[in-house]
Amino acid sequence: MTNKLVIRETTSGDVAQVLALYPQAFPEEELRPVVSALLEEELEVLSLAAFDGDALVAHVLFTICGTEEWDRTGALLAPLGVIPSLQRQGLGNSLVHAGLARLKKRGIKQVFVLGDPAYYQRFGFSPERQVLPPYPMPEEWLDAWQSMPLAARAPLATGRLSMPEPWMEPALWGP
Ligand SMILES: CC(C)(COP(=O)(O)OP(=O)(O)OC[C@H]1O[C@@H](n2cnc3c(N)ncnc32)[C@H](O)[C@@H]1OP(=O)(O)O)[C@@H](O)C(=O)NCCC(=O)NCCS
Repeated sequence: MTNKLVIRETTSGDVAQVLALYPQAFPEEELRPVVSALLEEELEVLSLAAFDGDALVAHVLFTICGTEEWDRTGALLAPLGVIPSLQRQGLGNSLVHAGLARLKKRGIKQVFVLGDPAYYQRFGFSPERQVLPPYPMPEEWLDAWQSMPLAARAPLATGRLSMPEPWMEPALWGP
């Protein structure tokens, strides 16, 4: 890794590199269709990447969302990936913090994630019981469904999370 690591929002010119990252970070999951739909359909997302020179080495996507009774002041963090050779060197951490700071400035009040609590609790995520994911989840995954407030007075939202079309695929939410 050079010293020139830069974190910035991705552009249409970065999509190919974003899509090339995910099979490396998640060899057993196919995330390219949802990521490419979210980026190419210009849906409301925050797409941040870390670049080592011109090479994209880590990426995180946040999708703006809400519930039926609650306006679009939520965001889903997914996916997050770092190229294998640079994992565990703080890149995931830097990208998540950079994303949370930008979302806060945009007025986003609560961020959701489906992921390992051992990793996400360090950012302030804790199990979410009020707002349900779009599809029912197996019992053993309940602690992996988490959220964190970004505002001092985060909304006490309830109901099922309402996500844009590319996320409405049960396989993305279950084993
Ligand atoms: C998970 C991932 C995004 C973390 O990013 P990273 O840059 O490698 O991790 P960071 O350097 O920010 O954080 C490292 C810390 O997280 C811990 N950690 C890393 N991956 C972890 C995981 N899957 N579960 C729990 N803890 C994890 C490390 O033990 C380390 O802890 P320490 O700081 O106490 O030593 C990255 O390793 C990755 O892309 N993995 C493959 C894809 C994946 O599993 N993604 C899950 C996110 S949806």
